[in-house]
Amino acid sequence: MNTFAKESLGIFPTPIHRLPNLSRELGTNVWIKRDDLCGVALGGNKVRKLEYLLADAKAKGYDLVMTTGQAQSNHAMLTAACARRMGLDCILVLKERGITERKGNQILNYLMGVEVRFVDTDSYDEVYKEMDRIAEELGRKVYKIPCGGSNALGSLGYVDCMKEVSEFGQKFEHIVCACGSGGTAAGTILGAKMYMPETHVMCSMVDSDPFDVIVPELMKEAVELMGVDMEIPVPDLVDMCGPGYSIPSEAGNEAIAMMMKLEGILLDTCYTGKAFAGLIQRARAGEYKPEDNVLFVHSGGAGGLFAQDWENMSL
Ligand SMILES: Cc1ncc(COP(=O)(O)O)c(C=O)c1O
Repeated sequence: MNTFAKESLGIFPTPIHRLPNLSRELGTNVWIKRDDLCGVALGGNKVRKLEYLLADAKAKGYDLVMTTGQAQSNHAMLTAACARRMGLDCILVLKERGITERKGNQILNYLMGVEVRFVDTDSYDEVYKEMDRIAEELGRKVYKIPCGGSNALGSLGYVDCMKEVSEFGQKFEHIVCACGSGGTAAGTILGAKMYMPETHVMCSMVDSDPFDVIVPELMKEAVELMGVDMEIPVPDLVDMCGPGYSIPSEAGNEAIAMMMKLEGILLDTCYTGKAFAGLIQRARAGEYKPEDNVLFVHSGGAGGLFAQDWENMSL
């Protein structure tokens, strides 16, 4: 299997623990993988991807990285935080969509002093063109990290995560994670197949992109990159997007409140609340046996929770 340079940015392995109250409530054994506690800013799944992506940038001699996302992007905020740690310059070229004021992740971007440029577009192609334009203006070479850090190299971070899970010493029948740009799902499904072939992975889609195409494509590229001989699994994807990407959903908010009330753990409105709502939905549909062990991958995102206007939101 091919290996790739990795920068040590997070604190790994992250903890795994059982959630006793939620287990009682949902009638199965619910566990959580705490990638929200991985040690950079508010933690989250992007750090595992950035360990590969920023190591690649450094190895190729880049000293300026740019990435993108919507205004409250956890990925963008974490890219800036990780780049800073490595002494790399970082410019965030964000879509002018979502909550652009100094709230949530924009507070953290402000505190880091990272340059944020907004582009009024719905097209990432436009954003990547703007990155090239900025780089040309600065006369510098830029390492462009795609939205969500979701390319084959980034998704290897979640292959590693599944290796960690397999070494924990507890068998899991099911794993549930969020799917927002596809890299986490691709890496999780591949890693589970490699290290825990009997474990089923379900991914809660929080955006309406065609993940049935995107995730297998990413898996195929990641398999080629790793140089392993493996059939590409068909992903189990459940639509938990609700009213739209980054728009809070009723099911997501119920999941956030349930996790907070019963276990004192923060989820967020854009990703992990909706992802956990997928797990609740399956539990209520009787798809998990009482003796099953179901692992929820907490992929972070708390910054976005505090950007929301909770005065005008009901549970
Ligand atoms: C907190 C959080 N969870 C999950 C995801 C989804 O991961 P991916 O983009 O790899 O599908 C993201 C992506 O931005 C995220 O910020």
